[in-house]
Amino acid sequence: MLVDRARPVSREVVAELCELAQWAPNHKRTWPWRFAVADGDGRARLGDTIADAMEAHGDPAEKVAKTRTKYLRTPATLVVGSAAGDSPLRSAENRDATAAGVQNILLAATATGLASYWGSCPKGANDAVAALCGFEPGTHIAALIYLGWATEGVVAPERPQVHLHIID
Ligand SMILES: Cc1cc2nc3c(=O)[nH]c(=O)nc-3n(C[C@H](O)[C@H](O)[C@H](O)COP(=O)(O)O)c2cc1C
Repeated sequence: MLVDRARPVSREVVAELCELAQWAPNHKRTWPWRFAVADGDGRARLGDTIADAMEAHGDPAEKVAKTRTKYLRTPATLVVGSAAGDSPLRSAENRDATAAGVQNILLAATATGLASYWGSCPKGANDAVAALCGFEPGTHIAALIYLGWATEGVVAPERPQVHLHIID
């Protein structure tokens, strides 16, 4: 999907998307979602933080350089973290709740006219991104969501046919 790079995505709109994320199911109501938005100059800081971590991790220079400017492609990037739980099971459930919240964000963004894209936090950059965002240590970065006002749609690839197993 193409976006209008000159049209800002307001923090109010982003905050509304975050509000909707919190309506996802959440076992034990642990409220695991953590949110941070990079817009304006914050996008370059996000890119530099990730690129520095990738460099330290030994990633190729070309890949590192590309990452520095990656988040300038859309007006805003929403970082969604999932807080650690008090057991491995709870942490896993928190991540599931966070993923469900991210899907709420993507659906709401589309309904609002925003193009969105779910990207992962590159390998080795999780803790640096969490620190940049002000999230607690141990927070898993679940999504980097690119956001911009859509100018035109793209054709979505076909999905495989569903095979529904029957338990009898
Ligand atoms: C947890 C998760 C992480 C993802 N990380 C990336 C990523 O880092 N880079 C990427 O190109 N696509 C990533 N994707 C995939 C895209 O967000 C998108 O779903 C995919 O390109 C399929 O597009 P479609 O839904 O239009 O078919 C990720 C998806 C999920 C669910």
